[in-house]
Amino acid sequence: MKTTFYGQASFEIETGGKKLLFDPFISQNPMAKNIDINSLKPDYILISHGHGDHVADLLTIQKNSNAVVICIAEIAGWLGNQGINNAHGMNIGGGYNFDFGRVKMVNAIHSSTLPDGSPGGNPAGFVIYAEGKTIYFAGDTALTYDMKLLADEKLDWAFLPIGDNYTMGADDAIKASAFINCKNIIGMHYDTFPVIKIDKQAVKEKFDKAGLNLKLPGIGESLTL
Ligand code: NI
Ligand code: MN
Repeated sequence: MKTTFYGQASFEIETGGKKLLFDPFISQNPMAKNIDINSLKPDYILISHGHGDHVADLLTIQKNSNAVVICIAEIAGWLGNQGINNAHGMNIGGGYNFDFGRVKMVNAIHSSTLPDGSPGGNPAGFVIYAEGKTIYFAGDTALTYDMKLLADEKLDWAFLPIGDNYTMGADDAIKASAFINCKNIIGMHYDTFPVIKIDKQAVKEKFDKAGLNLKLPGIGESLTL
């Protein structure tokens, strides 16, 4: 299983010959100028919530790829109004077996209004079960006790926001790592805007001290999960 970072909370995971793209915000992200969104042809696009920094390139990439969009029911309905009829709507606590593996939608503490002001339902995270691995993509979220529900999932990797201000920051992400019982963390949702700039070296040291393996891939960089 391989993941590639595209900036902010946008990642692609390749598993079982399928490409899963999370929260595409690339063409409007000045830090991701090296990525051409027309080169992205995912099989699935997973959307954690409706904010612009998670859906900016959703319509373009979906039209280029005809990807199935996995998202909460309200965003699936909104996509239907945009002429996209192959969204797979879910809701918190529900799981579904896709051809690449299972996806369970889990709680996130945040907000979710779409860029045109439409309601985006509740924000969500995802647990992905594929190739015998279990991966948690937290989306934008605060630290929440609900994360303790994931402690028994034997997570191999977790994508956690660490940028503070709009989501949990590094200190709470370290607490979240303990709640979910996962030592392999990929940090996201930092540096894109001035209010979420982090000192990467200091954050890395904090995670090291807590016995955690924090990865902060560069934009366009891939990691094996
Ligand atoms: Ni957000
Ligand atoms: Mn965000």
